[in-house]
Amino acid sequence: MNDPNYVRIFDTTLRDGEQSPGATLSSDEKLQIAHALADLGVDIMEAGFPAASPDDLEAVRRIAVEVGNREREDGRHPPTICGLARAVKSDIDKCWEAIQGAKHPRIHTFLATSPIHMKYKLQLDPEEVVEQVREMVAYAKTYCDDVEFSPEDAGRSNPEFLYLVLGEAIKAGATTINIPDTVGYTTPEEFGALIKGIKQHTPGVDDVIISVHCHDDLGLATANTLAGVQNGARQVEVTINGIGERAGNTSLEEVVMALKTRNPVYGTDTGIDTTQITKASRMVSSLTGMAVQPNKAIVGANAFAHEAGIHQDGMLKHEETYEIMRPETVGLNKSELVLGKHSGRHALRVRMRELGYELDTDSLQEVFERFKELADKKKVITNADLLALMKDELYQPQEVYALLDLQVTCGTVNMPMASVRLRGPDGVATAATIGTGPIDACYKAIDTIVQLPTALLEYTVRSITDGIDAIGEVFVRVVPEQAFMRKSPQTGFDMPRQFSGHGAETDIVVASAKAYLSALNKILVSEGMGEDVSQEEPEVVMA
Ligand code: KIV
Ligand code: ZN
Repeated sequence: MNDPNYVRIFDTTLRDGEQSPGATLSSDEKLQIAHALADLGVDIMEAGFPAASPDDLEAVRRIAVEVGNREREDGRHPPTICGLARAVKSDIDKCWEAIQGAKHPRIHTFLATSPIHMKYKLQLDPEEVVEQVREMVAYAKTYCDDVEFSPEDAGRSNPEFLYLVLGEAIKAGATTINIPDTVGYTTPEEFGALIKGIKQHTPGVDDVIISVHCHDDLGLATANTLAGVQNGARQVEVTINGIGERAGNTSLEEVVMALKTRNPVYGTDTGIDTTQITKASRMVSSLTGMAVQPNKAIVGANAFAHEAGIHQDGMLKHEETYEIMRPETVGLNKSELVLGKHSGRHALRVRMRELGYELDTDSLQEVFERFKELADKKKVITNADLLALMKDELYQPQEVYALLDLQVTCGTVNMPMASVRLRGPDGVATAATIGTGPIDACYKAIDTIVQLPTALLEYTVRSITDGIDAIGEVFVRVVPEQAFMRKSPQTGFDMPRQFSGHGAETDIVVASAKAYLSALNKILVSEGMGEDVSQEEPEVVMA
């Protein structure tokens, strides 16, 4: 892309985003998100950190082969598939092993350059850092033409030292230099000035792309990224819903919509099909278990809701009184037609299409069955209900254990008790236990059957719509007692993998059981244990 005003969208949802606590994704889920990112039109996707674990390497490899060779419907070539590697040979070797199947592979290598990181984390002198950068960029270049280099913690690095390191990285073959504000410390003025300085003083900079990568610790990630663009950055590193380490990364939807809505200010373009934003946001939220706050810009549930009477009055007179973007631009369609008990498959398919989902016959059938069950309980089915059902049906891991029945008694008289019947790899099993509450009893009964000890780190329940008959959505986050480890790219330490699960039902105890099972299934699948039992006939075994 030779247009000087084109801003490349580098999505790191599957790498930095997946480093958020509990956002662990299975290989299948990563692939699903990678396809959605390709549909969205990202130019580059960072598919993971292959040296973290063999699972991570395999997931990147699958994305490289499947998504990295998929021509897009709009005729654009497949996205570049990038892997992250610390500036050491073994990481770069693993990275190349993972990405080489893509049509356009990229190695992204990094080394810290701030005084505090060099002294305490790396325990290297600045000269040693420069030498390691030179050597490792050159080493990455022996594999791949497209090499990105990041001076980690650039936001707190000495600018003069950055010009030197970046100049050496360019000389060694880097084609993109990425400037991370790793700890989200800078202000927009400072960050803009840093990019400007790099553009003016780095030898060879005119032949490479300047990229920016901002974290949101002070809530300034989007502002800093836009300041970077105003000062010459032509690649932005972003994640869907802004997920990422600690407070997260700059969000794709905010940057893309700011560049589009305020085009006269920035004078730049991107290749993003903005109508795919809402769909991608919902998918990432469901699969990672990270809910989007209602007031989140662009993709929050309230982002296009106008509650206050004065606003509604203005909106009725002219939409632009209070709306700077049309909801349709981000793929949010507001259909007013109500679906209910008598609506058929066709109406459901049309509504799902309006909501941005093209369901194949099998998926439509699954969602339709859930829709009919719900319509027996609830008179009016809203779009939010439909989306919750769809997420619950389509964004679930492979079912190693499936919930067949659940019975719970609780109240003020006796100890809460739950009995569950699950279908698992060894057939059908039943268990009954008491607990401190209905959810505790239910989770203990599930544990009796599944026998996979975990610690529950987070449990949240929320109502999808108003009203007493609303669907309840439950998210859980668990860590297996025998934790599976993966390396953190920043610290190099092994970290325990956390797993999330979600479930949606009008009965929140059933939703809770489904959410817990969904997390357990994720653990079992990610460890290669068990098969999908969802289609099997039950064979009765009592536990
Ligand atoms: O925030 C950061 O510094 C990173 C680098 C690996 C680019 O994520
Ligand atoms: Zn980062």
